[in-house]
Amino acid sequence: MKAVIWHGKRDVRVEDAPDPRIEEPTDAVIRVTSTGLCGSDLHLYEVLTPFMAPGDILGHEPMGIVEEVGSEVPDLRPGDRVVVPFQIACGHCFMCDTGLPTQCETTQVTGEGMGAAIFGYSRLYGAVPGGQAEYLRVPQAQFGPIKVPEGPPDDRFVYLSDVLPTAWQAVEYAAVPPGGTLAVLGLGPIGDMACRIAKVRGAERVFGVDLVPERLARAQRRGVETYDLRAFDNEKSLVHAIQDETGGRGPDAVIDAVGTEAHGSAAAKLAQQATALMPRKLSAPLAERFSIDRLGALHMAIDLVRRGGTISLSGVYGGMADPMPMLTLFDKQIQLRMGQANVRRWTDRILPYLTDEDPLGVEDFATHRLPLAEAPHAYEMFQRKQDGAVKILMQP
Ligand SMILES: NC(=O)c1ccc[n+]([C@@H]2O[C@H](COP(=O)([O-])OP(=O)(O)OC[C@H]3O[C@@H](n4cnc5c(N)ncnc54)[C@H](O)[C@@H]3O)[C@@H](O)[C@H]2O)c1
Ligand SMILES: [Zn+2]
Ligand SMILES: [Zn+2]
Repeated sequence: MKAVIWHGKRDVRVEDAPDPRIEEPTDAVIRVTSTGLCGSDLHLYEVLTPFMAPGDILGHEPMGIVEEVGSEVPDLRPGDRVVVPFQIACGHCFMCDTGLPTQCETTQVTGEGMGAAIFGYSRLYGAVPGGQAEYLRVPQAQFGPIKVPEGPPDDRFVYLSDVLPTAWQAVEYAAVPPGGTLAVLGLGPIGDMACRIAKVRGAERVFGVDLVPERLARAQRRGVETYDLRAFDNEKSLVHAIQDETGGRGPDAVIDAVGTEAHGSAAAKLAQQATALMPRKLSAPLAERFSIDRLGALHMAIDLVRRGGTISLSGVYGGMADPMPMLTLFDKQIQLRMGQANVRRWTDRILPYLTDEDPLGVEDFATHRLPLAEAPHAYEMFQRKQDGAVKILMQP
């Protein structure tokens, strides 16, 4: 089969890989019909390269048709149409029972000290071959795959794999009070969808921050009050602008949907190393840039949220030693909630929104649909935010 294979930093190729087959009685094999490209893939493309190995198959947002099932997968049969969650979980351990399949005790990658395994997401998450491929072996298929009806286009359902449950969890964790206000930092697929979900779930006002014009415009068209980071002298003035809109207090909750930005953080790291070697006066401007690229969004969230408010973190951060402003977090009495999305915990609540009326606008959410063969181009375009690329789906 053809698959998107990681070779090194900014080097992915579409190549032949062995066809997957049933290895455990709880496996299924699916023929992939659509597969998403995610901001999380960009981390592997640029920053998390030490955890990847040449030959790894990428991708964690697939859907398709069941080809074959193992003997312990009672609810699936060949021909079923399914969406596959990005995380692999058993559905019956202590963690799965408490609604935390991200921490599944059957699939935890204990050797790396990490939670549940994830498709196509480096050895930290189990080095499981991913879903940007013609076929995918799905472990724990008695629990993961979500059956969806025939008829509507793939676009209606494919985001159940990641974007929808991640954005749903971000909003759930944000716990915006009825009639309350929410700010969303980052208007990539996750932030954009979080704005949409917050609106349908009753947030009174949603503020969105980004620095890419078409992403801002897209959110604005759906009623988000948008702020272009580039239009402000510094983060403080942006924070004040939004606080002014909320009686000077700040929004009830802030979602950070940025994370350790793939396209910026490598440069940021260099800048940081260089900064350390420079006389203090010279290094300040670099340090300011650095804050935009690395923990900038999280620090902005801490400044921005009202006292006693909630920060909901869905952007992925990788560092172990990033400094945190504990004094401010403590003094403002901020509640901080975060983590990978517990996909299956939310999907039954999301499905009723995936109707002909399409209240979340999933059917025209993708800006690009490309053949899988064009994956190298897709990665480059998405990373560089060229050609209006916000969400890219690929078809094997
Ligand atoms: N928790 C989960 O389960 C989960 C699942 C999927 C994705 N993610 C993470 O969520 C994040 C967003 O994913 P995505 O697919 O939307 O990626 P993306 O890279 O397309 O989106 C990030 C957006 O943030 C913007 N940005 C950069 N710096 C900013 C700043 N300082 N302030 C405001 N905006 C800024 C970028 O312009 C971009 O539009 C990534 O870190 C990704 O790894 C987490
Ligand atoms: Zn994803
Ligand atoms: Zn489990």
